[in-house]
Amino acid sequence: MNNFEFCNPTRIVFGRGTEARVGAETAVHAKKVLLHYGGGSIRSSGLFDRVVASLKGAGVEYVELGGVKPNPRLSLVHEGVRLCKEKGLGLVLAVGGGSVIDSAKAIAMGAVIDHDVWDFYLGEGEPKAALPVGTVLTIPAAGSESSTGTVITREEGLLKRAVNSDLLYPRFSILNPELAFTLPAFQVGCGAADIMAHLMERYFTTVRHVEFTDRLLEATMKTIAHKAVEVLASPRDYDAWAEFMWAGTIAHNNLLDTGRVGDWASHDMEHELSGVYDVAHGAGLAVVFPAWMKLTMPTDPARFAQWASRVWNVDTDFWTPEVTAREGIRRLEAWYHAIGLGTRLADLHIGKDRLDEMARKCTDGDRRTVGNFVKLDSKAVRRVYELAV
Ligand code: NZQ
Ligand code: ZN
Repeated sequence: MNNFEFCNPTRIVFGRGTEARVGAETAVHAKKVLLHYGGGSIRSSGLFDRVVASLKGAGVEYVELGGVKPNPRLSLVHEGVRLCKEKGLGLVLAVGGGSVIDSAKAIAMGAVIDHDVWDFYLGEGEPKAALPVGTVLTIPAAGSESSTGTVITREEGLLKRAVNSDLLYPRFSILNPELAFTLPAFQVGCGAADIMAHLMERYFTTVRHVEFTDRLLEATMKTIAHKAVEVLASPRDYDAWAEFMWAGTIAHNNLLDTGRVGDWASHDMEHELSGVYDVAHGAGLAVVFPAWMKLTMPTDPARFAQWASRVWNVDTDFWTPEVTAREGIRRLEAWYHAIGLGTRLADLHIGKDRLDEMARKCTDGDRRTVGNFVKLDSKAVRRVYELAV
């Protein structure tokens, strides 16, 4: 096991009706905030009114900025930065999913600097400060409610890039599983695929003697595999949603990669897909991950066989772990299909014409490799995309 430091400071307020606490949680940090949200879902569900009532009840003033799109855009971030600076706002409150939260984190960084926040996404400098962020989560998926990450798309050049900083852990996140009842089935599938991907990225490691976190990851993968199917069958099953939502947060709050190094190539390759084609992140991962597995499995069949056996209950072929591993990949693909996702680029209406471009962008024009379990250059990335055709 590697040395590590672990401190996740996000205060989680979990359970039925907990959005009523948002005013009190916010007031601890600021009395004037940016209320940031997406399209129509929080208005049609009535959540917007409940959040506003709670803020007012706690004496918190707010300025609204809605309109965050999935794969959140830089131009709206700029608008939020301008509002925070002009109105002297002290916290960004994100009510929504990963896209809203990521946009809020970008605004929080941009509000305290006098250059373009996009510089950080290009790797030019690191944030030294940020406004506090609070969240009310409406979809278990990205894990941004308790993560260091923010992923933003710049419209010019369709570039989707991430920043990670400890400054970006939300101060609090309100998780009420009831808020997920209104999710369309497709978004449920995408959320489950993203959570599963966060676990698999961490699972496929070259670090040895990580049995404890292996077991935690396996338990979380099994939970998501089962609960995704349950909530799709019964969208108002609070108990199933509660497990799904909490597992989704734990999957990406850095606890499960303590002492190990995750891979993350599949995320990098998917970000090119959603940057160029604006596909949902989870739907892109369901296409990229099995292809990545087919390419990399021969480098460590035993690890794949362990995953196949413990997560997907595949009978172990002790003579040929490759056989066990391949059956695990097949069961993963079958699970994606069962939760309504395709596993081929064609399912996303993506052809072969821009594979070279995406492979180049993903590796910064072959100046870097992606992934840690196996390091992929642009040729290998292209090969993964081809395996997904
Ligand atoms: O905009 P509204 O109307 O709210 O609709 C949203 C959106 O269309 C809808 N939705 C959300 N909650 C709902 C709901 N509809 C009905 N009822 C509800 N309760 O769902 C759609 C998708 O929302 P989005 O926020 O885009 O989903 P998700 O949470 O999957 O976020 C995806 C983004 O997160 C990034 C992804 O790259 C992508 O841009 N990620 C962020 C990470 C992080 N910050 O740590 C890590 C992840 O790996 C990921 O890259
Ligand atoms: Zn993800």
